[in-house]
Amino acid sequence: MIIWKSPFTAAKVFRVSTESQGVVETVHVPVMPDEVVHWMTEHAPRVMVDGTYGGGGHSSLLIKKLPPGEGFMIGLDRDPAVSERVDTESHDPRLTVFLGSYERIPKALEALEIPKADAILLDVGLSSDQLADANRGFSFTVDGPLDLRFDPEFGDPASDWLAWKKEDEIANAIYQYGEERCSRRIAKEIVTRRRKENPVKTVNDLVEICRRCVPPSKNHNIHPATRTFQALRIVVNDELGIMERTLKAAPEWLAPAGRLVVISFHSLEDRIVKNAFRDDERWNILTKKPLRPTDDEVRMNPRSRSAKMRVAELA
Ligand SMILES: C[S@@+](CC[C@H](N)C(=O)[O-])C[C@H]1O[C@@H](n2cnc3c(N)ncnc32)[C@H](O)[C@@H]1O
Repeated sequence: MIIWKSPFTAAKVFRVSTESQGVVETVHVPVMPDEVVHWMTEHAPRVMVDGTYGGGGHSSLLIKKLPPGEGFMIGLDRDPAVSERVDTESHDPRLTVFLGSYERIPKALEALEIPKADAILLDVGLSSDQLADANRGFSFTVDGPLDLRFDPEFGDPASDWLAWKKEDEIANAIYQYGEERCSRRIAKEIVTRRRKENPVKTVNDLVEICRRCVPPSKNHNIHPATRTFQALRIVVNDELGIMERTLKAAPEWLAPAGRLVVISFHSLEDRIVKNAFRDDERWNILTKKPLRPTDDEVRMNPRSRSAKMRVAELA
């Protein structure tokens, strides 16, 4: 397995087990596994790309569907922590994982001298491994630095972004990407703290502000910081921009009848996928409505509850 450092300039070589016996065990449970395997492999692909490798859960299921000893399973992830979950002893030589954004899929194919992929999977958002890591700032129930970057070696942490953006820009981002109605009050408090030379630096700093500004939700099951953290994560990682650019370019990366499977977790992302498939005549949409996890899956893996899967193939 190769992990290629973003942006694919320096190469590092690791080996990985596809059974996740790595140095650090993954705690992530792959979402809609049966549906992913069905839609990714129904047309007997030989080259599959998992653009959001994470804990390798989907990849390890998909690689089993390649013809014995043949084909390619290519993973990409922006998070360097993925390399901590590698097993240096055993690996399936058909698996190669690159460190970098899924926007770089053509570079990964080029590095392996493969012209096109037969199937691409994007399971966007956060993994449970990232949520469990207090140093990343993804979980508002664990205090730590307010970072929120998928790749902590690239770009600015969320605390820096909040330290230099104008109040209006902060409010607009929280409203637009978090659909948070109290965005103006939250932005005002962030900037007031900054003026008092006590800027927001940690998860708890921001959680406290959200608690003061956001009234409890009617059914009390949404944490007051949920929407604000989602918005900042989307902003610091340019998540929607990357997704839009990728969906537009993906038909060029796929072989005839190649498939794109996208799992998203909130309405902004799902809308982008729906519109990208609908507005590009190169796609033949295979799922008229988004597929949802079964009740049983949601019971076993509550994090799957907001997943929506859409599938298209090259027309
Ligand atoms: C929901 S997890 C994927 C879990 C994976 N399917 C599994 O079964 O273990 C999402 C992953 O996507 C990664 N990610 C987010 N944006 C990315 C991007 N633009 N390019 C590559 N990976 C990205 C995150 O770092 C995270 O590891």
